[in-house]
Amino acid sequence: MKLDAVTVEEESALVKDIERWFVRKRYDSGHFDKVITQYREIQKPLNRFCEENQRVLLRVRDMGFPSSTDLLPVHILDLAADGEIGPHVDHIEYSGRAIVGLSLLTNVVMTLRHQRSDAVAHFVLPRRSLYIMADEARYNWSHAIGRQTKGRRVSLIFRDRAENEA
Ligand code: OGA
Ligand code: MN
Repeated sequence: MKLDAVTVEEESALVKDIERWFVRKRYDSGHFDKVITQYREIQKPLNRFCEENQRVLLRVRDMGFPSSTDLLPVHILDLAADGEIGPHVDHIEYSGRAIVGLSLLTNVVMTLRHQRSDAVAHFVLPRRSLYIMADEARYNWSHAIGRQTKGRRVSLIFRDRAENEA
């Protein structure tokens, strides 16, 4: 976990940049079988961000991955104040061994649960911090983000490509 991965000014600039992609998107309530509720999401390659933000995001991704790593487009997830993410493991055919997430606007608690035991771990993900969830944590533990009610929370998630992907 890296605290203060971006400054308050960089956080504002990032949120402003992504706002234009969400302007016509409503929050999806999710359905009974959906893992995430009250959210909007979109994927954008790094080069779709404004230049200043590309610089910031390159710096951030370099904290999580060797710079030669081939990454998927940035996954931008906007959770409303009453949104939550239920326990899940990210699809293993979709992305590789590490999930690197930048949390913006609101602190949330992430809960990791071991898949084959009762072990549970809670982590505060402070606003403007970066977490790296790799290997054991990525494959053998589920992760979830509980409802937090304090306000909207935006995350920018970097993922490497799954090895078997063409
Ligand atoms: C996901 C997810 C975590 C986060 O989108 O699969 O678990 O930090 N997101 O937003
Ligand atoms: Mn996930």
